[in-house]
Amino acid sequence: MTSKTSKVCDEKRTPRRCFLWICLFIFLWATIYWIFAQPRFTYINKLKWIGSKYTEHFQPVVPGKSYVFVFSAFKLSSDNNRVSIVSIVDKYSPLHEFKCILRGKGNSTEKWTYATLEEYPESHNRRFSAAVFHCDVEQSEEPDTVSLVADGQQTPANILPIISESHPKRTFTVCVSPLHSRYSKAYQLVEMVEVDLLLGADHFFFYNYSTNWNVDAVLNHYQSHRLATVLQWPLPAVLQDDNQTEPIHYYGQIAMLNDCLKRNHGASRHVIFHDLDELIIPNSHKNWKDLLNSQPANMSAYMFRSSYFHLEWPDVESNSKLVNKIAKRYKANSFLKQYREERVFSPNTRSKYLVDPLQVQSVGIHRVWAFRDRGRQYFVPPNVALVHHYREGILERQNSRLKDNSTLKFIDALNQIEKTWKLLPHIPLGPIK
Ligand SMILES: *[C@@H]1O[C@H](CO)[C@@H](O)[C@H](O)[C@H]1NC(C)=O
Ligand SMILES: *[C@@H]1O[C@H](CO)[C@@H](O)[C@H](O)[C@H]1NC(C)=O
Ligand SMILES: *[C@@H]1O[C@H](CO)[C@@H](O)[C@H](O)[C@H]1NC(C)=O
Ligand SMILES: *[C@@H]1O[C@H](CO)[C@@H](O)[C@H](O)[C@H]1NC(C)=O
Ligand SMILES: *[C@@H]1O[C@H](CO)[C@@H](O)[C@H](O)[C@H]1NC(C)=O
Repeated sequence: MTSKTSKVCDEKRTPRRCFLWICLFIFLWATIYWIFAQPRFTYINKLKWIGSKYTEHFQPVVPGKSYVFVFSAFKLSSDNNRVSIVSIVDKYSPLHEFKCILRGKGNSTEKWTYATLEEYPESHNRRFSAAVFHCDVEQSEEPDTVSLVADGQQTPANILPIISESHPKRTFTVCVSPLHSRYSKAYQLVEMVEVDLLLGADHFFFYNYSTNWNVDAVLNHYQSHRLATVLQWPLPAVLQDDNQTEPIHYYGQIAMLNDCLKRNHGASRHVIFHDLDELIIPNSHKNWKDLLNSQPANMSAYMFRSSYFHLEWPDVESNSKLVNKIAKRYKANSFLKQYREERVFSPNTRSKYLVDPLQVQSVGIHRVWAFRDRGRQYFVPPNVALVHHYREGILERQNSRLKDNSTLKFIDALNQIEKTWKLLPHIPLGPIK
């Protein structure tokens, strides 16, 4: 064979035969290369296999290791041509050099670029912290998927679809902190959604780490009415809080908040962050829109101060039939509990907020951590609006209390609460033990 091929192109042979031999050689070489290169591309099929409906999950950067998990990737207009990957990182991880592999739409070529790591604040001294990786892309590029690799790794273990922003579809979107511990207070969930809808909410984002079946039924109900999006939040075992060791603060709340912020960039004019046991209640305005119109315009963030409404305190004595019948039947605490602590927490302590997602870079639990250019925040005076925190558990100290009936303007929510529960017969209000 070798003696033959060595003569392939000697003068006695025709140029045409010579050409065919070269073609054959190239074909064989290409086939062998393709076979060996295959493993590098199989992860693309992993994404396709999930189908058109991609389901969010945490993916490791190094297979079998919990150094870094990636969750979602975004390319946003305010981010000056970069792709951001929302992640969770081990602060003691030995990895030090990260690269992004970007792929275009219908484009089989890949582009490798360096990724920079930005850890979010507020890890609360836990081993794991929320973080974001940034990779630069050219203005003209429209990457479709991205993978994160580390330290010379040639085969990526993860692949994320890149979420680019949509056109504004909503005015007020609410991001709710992760549902955990087989969350089963369906009555609280329904009350929060119905009061917020009256205040002007268009849509809710929930992150499902752990729920009970009654809450699933309520979430499915709101999803089918297109009022809610439920993202699965299946924390990897190493991040789960088995023995109250909390490897990451509050079920990855910081990563979740920033995922929700980015997901709504461009899609919603305002994004509101609060927990299930909190409501942002205007004192005299009839909804959030009127409230904002009365405050300085175009702030990047409106911060609301918080006060406790202790659930141990007695229900209000009311002569309203709605309160006495419906609020009691459906455990609508925001109408039953009309006493709050006189104390209002100082700014940045337990505050909750409403932001313009185009102007905010990153958020924390009680504050905005970074603004884009010229971002400004404004503290809404407590006599204009307040975070009502319906707090369960032991009173910290006997604070003096006062009557606060500001939720009564939204008493129509009770009719909606009743309507919703009538559509969900046989679903327990919870909690389920
Ligand atoms: C494919 O990707 C490469 C690298 O990102 C880029 O230069 C090229 O323009 C892309 N081609 C198409 C058709 O998008
Ligand atoms: C929430 O997560 C659990 C556990 O993975 C799942 O069984 C349930 O269907 C999810 N609920 C919703 C509404 O997505
Ligand atoms: C949690 O505690 C239980 C009993 O003390 C033990 O069996 C289990 O292995 C612990 N889990 C973790 C993740 O430490
Ligand atoms: C607020 O922003 C809107 C839209 O960008 C603009 O039309 C309006 O003039 C701004 N208002 C103030 C007071 O700056
Ligand atoms: C709330 O209480 C104030 C004074 O205690 C009363 O004037 C007002 O009418 C009450 N608001 C509603 C909506 O009942």
